[in-house]
Amino acid sequence: MKNPAERGAQAGAAELEVKEVLESSPTRDIVLVEGSSIPVYMVKSPQLTPAERAALSSLKEKLVDEIKIEPGKIPLEEREKVFVREGLKVIERVTKEIPSDRKKFLLELIANEMVGYGPLAPMLADDNLEDVMIIGLGAPVHIFHQKYGMCATNVYFRDEHSIMAIIDKASRDAGRRIDLRQPLIDSRMPDGNRLNIIIPPISLTGPILSIRKFKSTALSVLDLIKLGTLSTDSAAFLWLLVEGMGVRPANMLFAGGTGCGKTTTLGALSSFVPERERVITIEDAAELKLPHRHWIRLETRLPVEALEEVTVDQLVRNSLRMRPDRLIIGEARGLGIPTVFTAFSGHTGCMCTIHSNTTAEETLARLTRPPISVPELLISAVDAIVMQRRLLIKNKYIRRVTEIAEVVGVEGGKVKLNRTHKWNPGTDEIRQVDTPSLVLQQISELSGIPQKDILKELKRREEVLKLMLGREMDVFSVNRAIQDYYSDPDGALEVLERQRPPSESAKDI
Ligand SMILES: Nc1ncnc2c1ncn2[C@@H]1O[C@H](COP(=O)(O)OP(=O)(O)OP(=O)(O)O)[C@@H](O)[C@H]1O
Ligand SMILES: [Mg+2]
Repeated sequence: MKNPAERGAQAGAAELEVKEVLESSPTRDIVLVEGSSIPVYMVKSPQLTPAERAALSSLKEKLVDEIKIEPGKIPLEEREKVFVREGLKVIERVTKEIPSDRKKFLLELIANEMVGYGPLAPMLADDNLEDVMIIGLGAPVHIFHQKYGMCATNVYFRDEHSIMAIIDKASRDAGRRIDLRQPLIDSRMPDGNRLNIIIPPISLTGPILSIRKFKSTALSVLDLIKLGTLSTDSAAFLWLLVEGMGVRPANMLFAGGTGCGKTTTLGALSSFVPERERVITIEDAAELKLPHRHWIRLETRLPVEALEEVTVDQLVRNSLRMRPDRLIIGEARGLGIPTVFTAFSGHTGCMCTIHSNTTAEETLARLTRPPISVPELLISAVDAIVMQRRLLIKNKYIRRVTEIAEVVGVEGGKVKLNRTHKWNPGTDEIRQVDTPSLVLQQISELSGIPQKDILKELKRREEVLKLMLGREMDVFSVNRAIQDYYSDPDGALEVLERQRPPSESAKDI
């Protein structure tokens, strides 16, 4: 086993002229440097005494000889632990002069290089990072930081072998193989991270690897409101659409550019799906985390060796036979897109994300024109399109739902839209536009509840969201409160009113 650092990953910190330190911690600094318009994320090398440094290199050789870890036999998350356990036996024998508390530290360093992700490990361990990407030979590894956006790092790979060693490890961990015959990987890793690899000759800048980090805690609808992605009134409106007052759950598309937060918004709004419903999710790489117990979770499969491919198409067909109340398709793409719309037609409560441009009109144009060419009639099975964007405002990335548009139907061969909400970049607010909602009108017609009462319900749900915002609630308690509201709206509202912080109640008087 070679280690990635020795194989050529280098820190280029010495070459950088730091202008300003934005943040500092024992493991990394985030700095602005001369000659770069984006911040640099500087991974700090651990401080070692000369004795420790000497012990480190001799230990590595001994450990390579003495510890054999067969990747297939030990689960990924156990490997580093097993390595450290076995390594402690060796270290006791070969070094006497290292204090015992430092022995474990040295072993962890070596384990990380040998069975972990070496120079990428500190970045993968940092919860503030959305992704980590090797962009090719001789270029710094780049990361996307939640607060600072795209940053370069001080980690470089100088030769192809050093990148390939990490790529081999990542693809093995994802249960996939990468070679000339299969030069691309798009897969989910056992820890939920999303892996994407492209090697030469397809990539012209050397092997590239991107790891999109999986967030173990999902964002709730309250988080989205706090982040400014949704307003309370747009969230309440989407609540009514998702639930449909039990008579007309809407078919919804969540559209926008890469990484704008489509899947997160879809996941957060799924808390509005009543618990009595059967939810089936279909994803290429499972990301969605739903709080529901009655949840059937399906993932597609690429053809791997003797195993046949399982497509979104097949899974949609099978799922419909299971009579789902909700069919949630992680992402509609490529050839699978028309099937998704077939599922929408004749069913309610289907939700799906789709990659698209910035407006609902553009989304429709992309769907209806070649090469996707979904027939207009199938598109009219969609009730609403939620457009989302990631924007760079005053050097800070923000994510906003920029538009909610209802699909009215087809007129003269063209799909007609009714925009109900729009984001105003001047005030940074998403507000209702004057046009009344047709979906709410349909709910009224189907349920027999007068329109004015539906609008009252909308206001009441907005009030529920506002009351919840005043409390510390994780995604599960948000879900619980919403489900409680379904069983007893007045009771749930009363509980929330009672729990309102005293300062807020006083303000209202
Ligand atoms: N509203 C939000 N505010 C801040 N960060 C968010 C928001 N929504 C999502 N994120 C973060 O942005 C990243 C991308 O989110 P997500 O996967 O939902 O985007 P996506 O549009 O589905 O991406 P893709 O195009 O790859 O499918 C994640 O790290 C997520 O935690
Ligand atoms: Mg997504």
